[in-house]
Amino acid sequence: MVVFGCGSDPAVVTAPRTGPDPAATALALPRAVDLNPDPRVVEINLEARMGEWELSPGRRVRAMTYNGGVPGPLIEARVGDTLVVHFTNRLAEPTTIHWHGLRVPADMDGSPRSQQPVAPGGSFEYRFTLPDAGTYWYHPHAAEARQMEAGLYGAIVVRGDDEPRVDAEAVIVLDDVTLGDDGQIAPPGDLLEIHGGRDTGIQVINGRANTVLPMRAGQRQRWRIVNAGSARFYRLSLPGHRFTVIGTDGGMLTTPRTLDELLMVPGDRYDVLVDAVAPPGTRATLRNLPYSRGHGAGVFEAEDVVAVAYAADAPLPSLPSPTTSRAIEAIDATGATPREVRLSEQVDEATETIRFMINGASWPDVPALPATVGQTQVWDVINESEMDHPIHLHGFFFQVVARDGVPETARSWEDTVNVRGRERVRIAFRPDDRVGMWMFHCHILEHVDHGMMADVMVER
Ligand code: C2O
Ligand code: CU
Repeated sequence: MVVFGCGSDPAVVTAPRTGPDPAATALALPRAVDLNPDPRVVEINLEARMGEWELSPGRRVRAMTYNGGVPGPLIEARVGDTLVVHFTNRLAEPTTIHWHGLRVPADMDGSPRSQQPVAPGGSFEYRFTLPDAGTYWYHPHAAEARQMEAGLYGAIVVRGDDEPRVDAEAVIVLDDVTLGDDGQIAPPGDLLEIHGGRDTGIQVINGRANTVLPMRAGQRQRWRIVNAGSARFYRLSLPGHRFTVIGTDGGMLTTPRTLDELLMVPGDRYDVLVDAVAPPGTRATLRNLPYSRGHGAGVFEAEDVVAVAYAADAPLPSLPSPTTSRAIEAIDATGATPREVRLSEQVDEATETIRFMINGASWPDVPALPATVGQTQVWDVINESEMDHPIHLHGFFFQVVARDGVPETARSWEDTVNVRGRERVRIAFRPDDRVGMWMFHCHILEHVDHGMMADVMVER
């Protein structure tokens, strides 16, 4: 059983087996304050407003914040709870909130297809139930590249009834921030940046650079990792340790999978167990390994993401292998409706313009794909460009069926999938009765801004 402490440092929570670790504050995420005494309702105030973001001690930049901090407050709830968010926009420009990964009704989705942006000074009440346990996040769906880079994002944890036993849990939100010559967050860049996406800034974890994640030898920690960066891909490795993946975007896997590396594309989540196998008093470093995402974009030298510091305390006895699992039935594709989703780009250096396209057009001019409630959709996402595009579908989880015709062996529910340059990825999903216009798009935010976005219209 995990016991969640109260107080001001909820990002790393520690069970009685170890006692609270004061060093945990290094990764602290403020927790949203629940105003509703009903245990099944989480009701919070969220305000988008300008503020200061302290990237590291003494290094502050002007930022857009939720409730004054970056990331915004951690929203925690249990499966089946109702979440009520009283949102007020105190920015000088319109914004919305999209609940990335949550299966909400279409009119709560915060996308430009489902909601009028909330004007400066305006407010909106988001209200929906939380049907699935897992790790999710929230962010604006207006001027995405600029507003998210400026600090508007936060994490959501929805807990189920049958969570694995761990000693500590950390919510780890990855991001990078590009500063200009004036030391402030740089305005949108040139053609090269638009093309590759902004991914060379200062590395931050939960909004802070150069942080430390505390561990105790023998502990089992659960890391809920969110990639909130504009374009940075993370190929994470913790030398000397392995990741036991228990969940992805849409919650638990069928059985845990042990991996040495995790590839996290923008928008992605991973839920992993990390057993602290190194000796007391030692240090390890969570690294981002080189990954080329085509066209000269990507990370070409390993970089440090966060230091992991082992306490001097004697090792705890290790826990037995996790048994957590969940049945995921493969989507039956017989009689499914096939669709093609072609990703392409057009660069015109003469006019300094760039267009990213889906099925030959840029949003909002891409014809919506039709779908009906209960109909199995099988999409071939065909990347006609040389670079990776992480594709995110709103509202519904899908299964990855095959990559370049090779069936995918591991089964999971996803809302974001990387499609490599020239690759063809087949996904399947079945819309439930939440009719409406649902977006799908590349989660490289500069590509969103330049048209790589489209809609699926779900009707009865
Ligand atoms: Cu996280 Cu439409 O996005
Ligand atoms: Cu893209």
